[in-house]
Amino acid sequence: QKGGYPSFMAKEIHEQAGSIADTLLGRLVDGKLHLDEKSIDDSVLRSVDKIVVVACGTAANAGAVVKYAIEHWCRIPVEVELAHEFRYRDPVVNEKTLVVAISQSGETMDTLMAVRHAQEQGAKVIAICNTRGSTIPREADAALYLYVGPEIAVASTKAYLGQIAACYLLGLYLAQVRGNLFPDEIAQIMEDLHALPEKIQQVLDASDQVEKLAQDMKDATSVLFLGRHVGYPTAMEGALKLKEIAYIHAEGFAAGELKHGPIALIEEGQPVFVIVPSPRGRDVLHSKVISNIQEVRARGARTLVIAEEGDDDVLPYADEVIRVPQTRTLFAALLTVIPLQIFACELATAKGLDVDQPRNLAKSVTVE
Ligand code: M6R
Repeated sequence: QKGGYPSFMAKEIHEQAGSIADTLLGRLVDGKLHLDEKSIDDSVLRSVDKIVVVACGTAANAGAVVKYAIEHWCRIPVEVELAHEFRYRDPVVNEKTLVVAISQSGETMDTLMAVRHAQEQGAKVIAICNTRGSTIPREADAALYLYVGPEIAVASTKAYLGQIAACYLLGLYLAQVRGNLFPDEIAQIMEDLHALPEKIQQVLDASDQVEKLAQDMKDATSVLFLGRHVGYPTAMEGALKLKEIAYIHAEGFAAGELKHGPIALIEEGQPVFVIVPSPRGRDVLHSKVISNIQEVRARGARTLVIAEEGDDDVLPYADEVIRVPQTRTLFAALLTVIPLQIFACELATAKGLDVDQPRNLAKSVTVE
């Protein structure tokens, strides 16, 4: 069942190229993007003036990535809310709000309650889900499935990538319906999306380096993760993976926050992963992150840098460079998280822990 891998988590990580290809399959037909499972009328989507993503855990980190894409492509404000926080305050939601509920299982009670709460205020809800026929997509007004296959390990990996890819499709569909992007722009973006599975495979094929790093670091007691733009939720996700399966204190930060507090944590030998954006995209973003690497290194951090192939600016400040293939700044989120998944999985395995069934956690949290 584990296909020769030591754990379901390892298997699911290594399935990600195929699962993302499946998520993207058959969506662009005759130059038009189609979402088969979408049953909210396009006129409603045209009138939407705000999107609220509700989700928990890894699904919320996926939502945080997607905010950057949808705001960029569609010029609609996107708020990302932890479902349990959304539910128990007084959110401003109405019939012009589109709520995007992201849930691998479709059974997370906090997310389900947020969906019901939003619908009571008149909002339309689209579920981004992996489990057909589960409660959240059944109760939502429309559903978009991931097609990544069953996820067994408690720690979510392939569903995270699938959630981001599915939300990218939703964002592009909205941009098409609302006229924010020209058809040829959408086709170009789709072409770049379709190139991702091969790039994901390249990252997976190079997993030896990160596996060795994780084995060497199995006695680490604290690991920090820094990123900007989509690298920020990637940092959060890398930290969550390490906490939940390796029981190591881990924190993800927006790199710009460093000097507002977290830099005080840096001492000699502190491992810090830094997710570096493409130098070809928004160069200010890139140079800001390079400065952040310098700042932590100057204070003794051990810098573990995830950077695009060909980005030599990182070399003077990196103790270790983990390479990912070049892609759009927005799409890098589907590549840079993979070494972090592998790192957590391998480190927990090296510690002799049960990677698939971490203590105190359930795959699907069906209580509030
Ligand atoms: O099934 P869901 O996507 O709604 O689950 C949400 C979270 O409980 C889930 O992502 C959790 O954070 C994972 N264990 C993280 O790996």
